Amino acid sequence: MHDDIAEILVTEEEIRAKITELGEQITRDYQDKNLQLLGILKGAVPFIGDLARAINLPLEIDYMAISSYGNTTQSSGVVRILKDLESPLEQKHVLIVEDIVDSGLTLHYLTDVLRQRKPRSLRICTLLDKGRERVKAQFVVGYGLDYAQRYRNLPYIGVLKPTVYLEYLENPQGQHKGLAE
Ligand code: IMP
Ligand code: MG
Repeated sequence: MHDDIAEILVTEEEIRAKITELGEQITRDYQDKNLQLLGILKGAVPFIGDLARAINLPLEIDYMAISSYGNTTQSSGVVRILKDLESPLEQKHVLIVEDIVDSGLTLHYLTDVLRQRKPRSLRICTLLDKGRERVKAQFVVGYGLDYAQRYRNLPYIGVLKPTVYLEYLENPQGQHKGLAE
């Protein structure tokens, strides 16, 4: 698994430090507010778990699943809700917790849908943003982020070697390093 990574982009220590900082900021911003963390399955699972523990406030956690890429590295443009929330959002201050924003299409669609449910406020907390220099035009995996459902359990965020997905695109049925076992 580690052999498929070209470069470590964000180390475990850097992730931990950033989450501590985010937790403190969210704790300040949501004092006396009814905070609802909304995790986007599956990529945001490790992040929301660590983030929730870094927030020193009462809060609720719920999840939505939306379709994104399938087994490719390009956004399909088609977004569907696969699993919806369990309770209404009225009276809640909703903070969407997402792993990565690329084109922004997924979150654009999602915020449109959620706004119709009339939350008190709606904000986004994303771990990575492809508009930023560090992650630009690279496909990254680890700490929840996947390629073809693999690599989510890497403790750091790394750049996937292009050979891994090129090999996969050429022969999706075949056996691949990192995807076969
Ligand atoms: P967007 O709709 O183009 O912003 O794509 C966002 C979604 O695509 C994220 O929620 C991720 O699930 C996925 N995604 C985008 N870039 C990457 C990446 O580099 N690695 C893993 N997943 C990614
Ligand atoms: Mg995602």
